[in-house]
Amino acid sequence: MATDKKPVQPLLTGDRTIPPEGAKMITIYIMGRQYRVPETLTVMKAVEYAGYQYVRGCGCRGGICGACATYYRFVGDYRLRAGLACQTVVGPEMIIAQLPFFPANRPDYDLDGMKGDLHAELRSLYPEVFKCIGCGTCTRTCPMDIDVMDYIALMKRGDLKGAAKKSFDCVMCGLCASRCPAQISQFTAAMFVRRLVGKYVLPRAEHLKKRVEEVVSGRYAKMLKGLMDMKPEDVKRLYVEREREPDMAEPGAWTPKDREHL
Ligand code: SF4
Ligand code: SF4
Ligand code: FES
Repeated sequence: MATDKKPVQPLLTGDRTIPPEGAKMITIYIMGRQYRVPETLTVMKAVEYAGYQYVRGCGCRGGICGACATYYRFVGDYRLRAGLACQTVVGPEMIIAQLPFFPANRPDYDLDGMKGDLHAELRSLYPEVFKCIGCGTCTRTCPMDIDVMDYIALMKRGDLKGAAKKSFDCVMCGLCASRCPAQISQFTAAMFVRRLVGKYVLPRAEHLKKRVEEVVSGRYAKMLKGLMDMKPEDVKRLYVEREREPDMAEPGAWTPKDREHL
C-alpha cells in the first residue's frame, strides 16, 4: 500500500456528504485504495465522499442499528482497531475495511417451549459460551463499551437476568464475535438470553400488552390507510414537521401536544 503524501482528488462527492468549508484534507485507505478526504468526516461519510455508495453496511447512521461494523488501523501502527463507521471519525493514514456481515451462530429455537431450566436451554443452544477463556478481547473490541466478557461470565454462572441487563445496549454489530478465540457469538447468545428473560423472568409490560391489543383491534387502520394514500412529498413534509421529543428529555417527562393516536 502506498504511503506517499501526494494529494489525491476525491473521485465523487456522495450525495449525503457536505464537507465543512476549509476542512483539512487527509489521506486514508479504503479497502487498500488511497483517497483524500476532509478530516472532519466519519468513516461512513468519508467512504461516500470517496465515491462509494452504500447498498449494505449502513442503516441508522446514528450508532443504533449496528450495521456498520468497521476495522481499521493506522499506517505504521500494529494495533487493529474497531468501531462503527457512522460514529468513528477518520484520521490521517487510516486503513479502513468495513464488515458488511458477520456469520454468527444463530440456532433455530422456539421460545414458547422453554419453560423449565432456562440455563439448560442456553447450554444446549450455545455450548460454546462455556468455552470462554476470559481473554477480554470482546470487551476491548465493543464499540458500545459493553463489558462483553462479563456478560458471558454471568451467562456461564446462570445469572441470565444479569447478562440480559449487562448486554442491553448491544447494537448487534458482531465485532465481539469476529475476534473471539473461543468462536463464541456473544451477541446472538445475549439476544437469546434477553428474549428468555423478557418472556419468563421479567413481569409482563401491561402498557405494551394494551397497545398490541389496540393495534390488533384495528385502532390505527384508518390512520395507516391515510398515510398509505398520501403522496410521498406529503409524507416527507409530515415527517419533517412532526412534533419531536427534545434531546435528553427525562424518561416519561414529555408527551406530544397531539395525543390523538396515543
Ligand atoms: S456486544 Fe458485540 S455485537 Fe454487541 S455492540 Fe458490543 S461488539 Fe457489537
Ligand atoms: S473474546 Fe471470547 S474467549 Fe475472550 S473473553 Fe470474550 S467471549 Fe471469552
Ligand atoms: S449505520 Fe447504524 S450503527 Fe452505524
